[in-house]
Amino acid sequence: MRQRYYIGDMGDYDGREVTLEGWLAGRRSSGKILFLQVRDGTGFIQCVAGRGDVDDQTFEELAALPMESSLRVTGRVAADDRAPGGFEVSLVRAEVVCAASEEYPITRKEHGVPFLMDHRHLWIRSSRQFAVLRIRATAIRAATNHLDSRGYLQLDTPILTPTACEGTTTLFETNYFEERAYLSQSGQLYNEATAMAFGKVYCLGPSFRAEKSKTRRHLIEFWQIEPEIAYADLDDVMDIQERLVEEMVGSILSERAAELNVLERDTEALARVKAPFPRITYTEAVERLNRAGHDFQWGGDFGAEDETILSRMFDRPVLVTRYPREVKPFYMENDPDDERVTLSVDMLAPEGYGEIVGGGQRMMDATQLEDRMREDGVPIDDYQWYLDLRRYGSVPHGGFGLGIERFVAWVCGLAHIRETIPFPRMLYRLKP
Ligand code: 4AD
Ligand code: MG
Repeated sequence: MRQRYYIGDMGDYDGREVTLEGWLAGRRSSGKILFLQVRDGTGFIQCVAGRGDVDDQTFEELAALPMESSLRVTGRVAADDRAPGGFEVSLVRAEVVCAASEEYPITRKEHGVPFLMDHRHLWIRSSRQFAVLRIRATAIRAATNHLDSRGYLQLDTPILTPTACEGTTTLFETNYFEERAYLSQSGQLYNEATAMAFGKVYCLGPSFRAEKSKTRRHLIEFWQIEPEIAYADLDDVMDIQERLVEEMVGSILSERAAELNVLERDTEALARVKAPFPRITYTEAVERLNRAGHDFQWGGDFGAEDETILSRMFDRPVLVTRYPREVKPFYMENDPDDERVTLSVDMLAPEGYGEIVGGGQRMMDATQLEDRMREDGVPIDDYQWYLDLRRYGSVPHGGFGLGIERFVAWVCGLAHIRETIPFPRMLYRLKP
């Protein structure tokens, strides 16, 4: 196989001549010297060509080449503290692979969000998006590594489902030959089945919510990693959540320092994300909101603003437990000490980000579950398989879903969730 060189590995090539295959991301010129920003998908690097370093025709071609043309460049690598990235390449040869046929639409000037979203297929080439999406990939890998190394089995759950998991108001319907099907809102119910078969499991995949929410933290299609554990109670679920989040943040801090730097992220705030996280009950959270002069009635669900206020009260994620039955789905176990509330837990990210994880202990008793489903108007016939899990060796169990995009928005310090996934699906945004 031919030797390939990547910008991401520049540190290994100091002093050597390398050929890079990439795209032209930027250019400055001082007349006699060209400074080319080249990116190859693993990083960005400055390439320098003086008149005479490359042949005249190449020099002229490079001086006029439109942005985002593809090119192959050869030159010597040298460490240089002044260069962004710490290395620079002095060119000896360059070859245009395909010159862009039109001026690149994304320029250095400020573009509006709608324009950038319309050009999302190109926008993802820019250094900020590069940083965010690499952090996303690391978040996912850190999460799966964490669970895999602790004996969890990854068993993915169906996207096309016959029933709802998180209530019927946000279901996407589709035809399934002669039947009706819905896009999955969560793999949880199926996870409960696989947990009874395999003990500790997780699924990783997209969730769909047909929710007419146009906020900075709602996507119509988002990804969750959802662990589910047999013989686990609420405390176990919280321990597992906080260790997972601690490790995901730690991996990003150590492996993606350069990306966090591009985003100008305050890494001290992230370095504080160490277990144990503070734990408060919903009732305490309501009291805290009221004490802070924020009017909130016990019994309601927290909105984005409430969560923002709460999450600013702590310097690391906070676990809020025991939400009222009315605001949580049918599968939540009742609190044996207070019938009004459930053994549920949401993790709110600090710095105002709010909920990034939702979960809890699942209802164990078949009769109680049936009663609760009837109360909530859940069609029991369709969930007989789910009730079977309580009929055949029911055990205390629980789990949670961590929303990848909400997590990435927080860790990257982004104002909006839209940049945390390559192609966001949002209210009124299905393209590109
Ligand atoms: O709180 P949610 O709705 O919980 C569930 O779906 C459970 N069945 C998960 C489980 O216990 N296995 O969603 C879980 C997480 C939220 O905390 C949030 O991070 C993310 O998924 N999430 C969204 N992310 C982006 N856009 C949306 N519309 C989201 N809805 C939920
Ligand atoms: Mg939730």
